[in-house]
Amino acid sequence: MAKILDKKLVSPAVYELVIEAPLIARKCKPGQFVIVLSDPESERVPFTIADFDREKGTITMIIQVVGNTSRHICEDYEAGDEWDNIVGPLGQPSEMKNFGTVVCVGGGIGVAPVYPIARAYKELGNKVISIIGARNKDLVLWEERMRAVSDELIVCTDDGSYGHKGFVTDPLKAMLEKGEKVDYVIAIGPVIMMRNVARTTEPFKVFTAVSLNTIMVDGTGMCGGCRVLVGGENKFACVDGPEFDAHKVDFANLMERQKMYKTQESVEWGCGGA
Ligand code: FES
Repeated sequence: MAKILDKKLVSPAVYELVIEAPLIARKCKPGQFVIVLSDPESERVPFTIADFDREKGTITMIIQVVGNTSRHICEDYEAGDEWDNIVGPLGQPSEMKNFGTVVCVGGGIGVAPVYPIARAYKELGNKVISIIGARNKDLVLWEERMRAVSDELIVCTDDGSYGHKGFVTDPLKAMLEKGEKVDYVIAIGPVIMMRNVARTTEPFKVFTAVSLNTIMVDGTGMCGGCRVLVGGENKFACVDGPEFDAHKVDFANLMERQKMYKTQESVEWGCGGA
């Protein structure tokens, strides 16, 4: 059993949940995920570990309600309730070392999985520049947490209601064009954002990692939902990743596959594929 210690709505349809999971908290590393089974009738769903506290024995997850199962997991349980089980940590941890200057890019709820990675880079002595983005001010996630682990934080909103008006790639591109020192980039967020970050850094030959956690379905390596072409080879985000070399990911193929799943989700939600 996994007890929910705290639950709060952090932006529309996005919940922050703190779970009692001492064994996972003790072992997990930035970049890894867990699989939640809220009750035996439900389905297993993977979620990235957004924070962990080894002393308190807790992990934190940010979950966006996007379908029936995420709605059930978030909205049918309150603090004090228990999920049936939680398995982890799973997936390959992020590569951790002192690269020099690291730019951590998080878009939407992708800021949550970026946070423990940025914190660990900072602890290893990297200069951490974080760029976080959202559609508007109300959707900006974990700004203060990110500020606390960054040497510099740039906030972007698509509509300009807060911070820089525009996309996370704008300040990144400006930095690279000015010749500022950037040794490593990690980007987590919507697939289109990660593709655009990869396109931005490629001409400057800056190694860029993307975390494809959002494309996972069951997280066990069995459903094939997270299959992605990386350097021409088939990889599974949940087993071989979720982090990959962004310049080797076939984003065109990935986005095609995502469209197929989106249609199926819409049908599941009774929207007739609309
Ligand atoms: Fe099912 Fe990776 S999520 S195989």
